[in-house]
Amino acid sequence: MILVTGAGGQLGSDLVEALVARHGADNVLATDLRIEPGSPVARSGARTASLDVTDAEALTTAVREHAPEAVYHLAGILSARGEQRPDLCWEVNIQGVRLVLELARIAGFRVFWPSSIAVFGPDTPRYDTPQATVTHPSTMYGITKVAGEMLAEYYARRWNVDVRSVRYPGIISWSAPPGGGTTDFAPEMFFEARRSSKYTCFVGPHTRLPMMYMPDAVKAALDLMDADASRLTVRTSYNLTAFSFSAEELAREVKARVPGFEIAYAPDYRQAIADTWPAVIDDSQARADWDWNPAFDVGAMADDMLAHLA
Ligand code: SER
Repeated sequence: MILVTGAGGQLGSDLVEALVARHGADNVLATDLRIEPGSPVARSGARTASLDVTDAEALTTAVREHAPEAVYHLAGILSARGEQRPDLCWEVNIQGVRLVLELARIAGFRVFWPSSIAVFGPDTPRYDTPQATVTHPSTMYGITKVAGEMLAEYYARRWNVDVRSVRYPGIISWSAPPGGGTTDFAPEMFFEARRSSKYTCFVGPHTRLPMMYMPDAVKAALDLMDADASRLTVRTSYNLTAFSFSAEELAREVKARVPGFEIAYAPDYRQAIADTWPAVIDDSQARADWDWNPAFDVGAMADDMLAHLA
């Protein structure tokens, strides 16, 4: 059995489908606080259950009942929402990952857990951000991800827990909306381009961030979990990227494909978060250790997004 937490989120919505294709619907248990009827996860055919990752008893029972071979622990509160609810962000992100790792130590399952570019902060080199560099974030979300990375490494080294992680950049996808992140302007721009041919962007035109199209985000999770453990040199979390663009450059890509598309900018509190994150990430360690190689560039992503949203 493969157990997925936070399955109803942006990443889970596509990852569950890929896991079902690999392992069969009966062998994937997709959990979230609530699985919405008609959602991608509900339609995937996977088994579903309601699960709160801060509920130690419920998580322990789920592990005991289903004896998972691997847990994809995706439940988490993202950066923007985390600044509105730092208490909740701490509780969900820290308690969740600690509990999953502790259960992995006892029950022996493998773990995939996403970290983020949010582990970086204003002191980190913004261009070609190296794998090993300053992780001194200014958001609660970033703090929980740094702590999670440290915990992951600790459990791997001390208890031999096979936990694997990537620092996802912003993820762009069409099947489910993103929830509460700072990089959400990118997928939102596509949704609004199709809906109303205009978008007011919550970060300024020159905000440049690392990004990735969902098929590559899913591929990264599966490739890393497939990798030979002896090749993995990083047990905190791997830098990962596909491309970087500024909000203005993305708007140009959209305009080239959606004639008449209009963009306006009204930066809000998320600008301050974006300003502390890298613009371009160096993911050469992931390329060397487990042959990471994204398939989609910006143009191919934009074509595919708009085709699906048509
Ligand atoms: N996409 C995430 C966010 O914006 C970054 O991990 O919060």
